[in-house]
Amino acid sequence: MSNAEDHFKNVISHSKEYGFIFQSSEIYDGLSAVYDYGQNGAELKKNLRDYWWKAMVQLHDNIVGIDAAIFMHPTTWKASGHVDAFNDPLIDNKDSKKRYRADVLIEEHVAKIEDKIRKEVEKAAKRFENFDQKLFLQTNPRVVEYAEKINSINSRFKKAMEDGNLDEVKQIILDLEIVCPISGTRNWTDVRQFNLMFATQLGSVSDESSTIYLRPETAQGIFVNFLNVQKTGRMKIPFGIAQTGKAFRNEIVARQFIFRMREFEQMEMQYFVKPGTEMESYEYWKNARMRWHQSLGFGENRYRFHNHLKLAHYANAACDIEFEFPFGFKELEGIHSRTDFDLKNHEEFSGKKLRFFDPETKESYIPYVVETSVGLDRLFLATLATALKTEKIEDGSERTVLNLPHALAPVKVAVLPLVNKDGLPELAQKIVDELKFDYQVQCEEKDTIGKRYRRQDAIGTPLCITIDHQAIEDGTVTIRERDSMTQERVPLNAIKKIVDERVSLSSLLKKL
Ligand code: GAP
Repeated sequence: MSNAEDHFKNVISHSKEYGFIFQSSEIYDGLSAVYDYGQNGAELKKNLRDYWWKAMVQLHDNIVGIDAAIFMHPTTWKASGHVDAFNDPLIDNKDSKKRYRADVLIEEHVAKIEDKIRKEVEKAAKRFENFDQKLFLQTNPRVVEYAEKINSINSRFKKAMEDGNLDEVKQIILDLEIVCPISGTRNWTDVRQFNLMFATQLGSVSDESSTIYLRPETAQGIFVNFLNVQKTGRMKIPFGIAQTGKAFRNEIVARQFIFRMREFEQMEMQYFVKPGTEMESYEYWKNARMRWHQSLGFGENRYRFHNHLKLAHYANAACDIEFEFPFGFKELEGIHSRTDFDLKNHEEFSGKKLRFFDPETKESYIPYVVETSVGLDRLFLATLATALKTEKIEDGSERTVLNLPHALAPVKVAVLPLVNKDGLPELAQKIVDELKFDYQVQCEEKDTIGKRYRRQDAIGTPLCITIDHQAIEDGTVTIRERDSMTQERVPLNAIKKIVDERVSLSSLLKKL
């Protein structure tokens, strides 16, 4: 097993052992691709959400936040295109009875060829001193052949999907000799389209007209409220509407822990602009969102842009911010220039005008939209997978530490009386009472101080305040910092200021 696979397994078991993530309804053997956040997970998730909200809403005077309902009028999803086009092409292997996404099978095949190119490049880079990668990619016969193969597969697949030709999609799988990873056979069914929305019934009458959907994205709640917010907030273009909330997709290939879930949380912002200015905003938000991710300090080389070559029919530019998860670079956030597709369709389906009247030019128009959309659960996974470390310490032993940015830690301060008597617990409680109005604080009295430090390291607590007998004598305590493990003695009346300086969210926000 590779180091990355080992690490990913550690992340999953650590999540459970320390109350970050549990499988949903675990006592009934769980529900596939659905997860619950435990006591520490809920805090970390909330802190990530707060950081996003403050960066997007609080720091931009032309962005406001809303909280739209999960249920929406069913016509919403007709207008948005989700009823007709939010599909995955599925294929079953008749021997293993396993179901796959046809596009994923083809993508994985392409990824294997890409891997071969990468290996050729690595080999050549080691061999030649002044290695010119660009020239190598253009001229090495084997690499050129691989690249041509990839282009041919991609363009054939793109055309098949655009034509809605599912027989051709199956033929590609057969021609590439893709086998089922379980049965090892090529005994495939035909490819079918499968809609990803969860449907349910509104009220007691169960007929087609009462079918409503669990929203598959939060964005539509923003579009249908565009005019309400613009008018009541007296917003002038360009302006943004932000929202965080649950979204639901009946994912068929649901795996990699919380990376692809059936119930997940999105943090989205729709930025309404004058038509013709959307590319400028698109570039702005691409860079602003990348800066936001990098402010977390996980390493700039762990992020990259992936520009979409195959654009959705409503977009005129789109890219992903990819993050290097333990299973490789994968999409973390999408930035999309969605033109006026959504507002125009909602106008048409609702019969209500969704336009902005510019009082200066006296023009009325449907704004264009640039969207930023990040999955909170994926962000959580990126954070946990990067922060979790096992390191050797001075006494030769090992410790597990969550190297979280201080402001994101579930517990900011642990207050630890050395013994459970002599007035030490009472003093600890006094400190907790001073800090608890601003921060999540924990007081721990059980076990040796070493064990208590280890437990706090494992959940990422940045500061531990230890109360010893000297604290009673001269009114000083020690503060231990998680990463350096250094301790400093400080007077009781300095604690609040030190904590404010080291763990507040504003220090992260100021870096943006
Ligand atoms: N409104 C645009 C939209 O929904 P998307 O690329 O489908 O775009 C945006 O989703 C983000 O939502 C993704 O970048 C990802 O972080 C997250 N996401 C999408 N599907 C997910 C799933 N099944 N589980 C967890 N996160 C998901």
